Amino acid sequence: MKHLLNLKSLTAHEIQSILDLSAELNETNEKVLVDKHILFVFEKPSLRTVLGTEVAINQLGGHVIHTQPEIMLSKGKNVEYSCREALQDTIMNVAQWCDAIFARVFSHDTLSNMAAMSSIPVVNALCEKYHPMQALADILTIQQTFSKYEKPTLTFVGDANNVAYSLFEGLLKLGYAVRFTGPKKYYWNDSQIAYFEHLASKNGTEFIHSVNPEKVLPGSDIVYTDTFVSMGEELVAAEKIAHFHGYQVNEQLMSLTGKSSAFMHCQPAHRGVEVTNEVMDGTNSLIKQQAYNRMVTSKGVFASLISNQIYHQPAETAVSIEL
Ligand code: NVA
Repeated sequence: MKHLLNLKSLTAHEIQSILDLSAELNETNEKVLVDKHILFVFEKPSLRTVLGTEVAINQLGGHVIHTQPEIMLSKGKNVEYSCREALQDTIMNVAQWCDAIFARVFSHDTLSNMAAMSSIPVVNALCEKYHPMQALADILTIQQTFSKYEKPTLTFVGDANNVAYSLFEGLLKLGYAVRFTGPKKYYWNDSQIAYFEHLASKNGTEFIHSVNPEKVLPGSDIVYTDTFVSMGEELVAAEKIAHFHGYQVNEQLMSLTGKSSAFMHCQPAHRGVEVTNEVMDGTNSLIKQQAYNRMVTSKGVFASLISNQIYHQPAETAVSIEL
């Protein structure tokens, strides 16, 4: 793995190895990133991604440098150019001093271009299509909560967005059952549905979807939601939110699972919009653990990309791993 732009090119084994390495490094905080410098370039706001990752890198002995996105990128208008020169020259210069680039961008094309030009790893800190770092933290949270070899069913309620896409990609590769419900206007397109169904059948699980929450929620062990309005969509916020009537995760919607299900949200949450206070603050809410794990899984990602660290599987469990 040279870059981490999404989870598409990763095998189930590679995803699981990153998660296991993350948990191991979080125990030891072995200084595997000493003298390593990671450049943060953020075109959009961030709390959890910046702070969680920066603390992770510091704990492993590395350093974070923040740059103004205007210095590196041309605000998504022309993904081939940075502020004053060809992007390839900017990236080549950065690689003389830094060991990785961690970028949050408006357009995935910006990341793809950077990765194509870069001799150092480029890591996606969120784009309009994917949020792989969130997915890794969420899968670790699910494994810790339900134990690694139990496969709970997760239903995502709301917008067919970047968070849901990466989460589905990771979970389906690892053989978890995934369901989705949301309004038709903000639904997956046919090729996305075909891709999720392909991943499900390849990995012996299922992907079920419906505009009707009552069709997919029964039996779900986890209910996940995200904002109905992602960063960059602020101008259409009111119009978009109107389509999500009936998809708020409240106690009534949670009761449709028919069991005491866990609740997840990547945050930032809009209390009273996509989720109620009762559910956010309820005893089954995993939001704190999800936030903590943003730090934990950053350790595994940067240690494996920059320092070629691998998980040291204890000998006595070596034969029991099933992926
Ligand atoms: N879907 C949201 C996720 C924020 C972490 C967004 O892209 O703004």
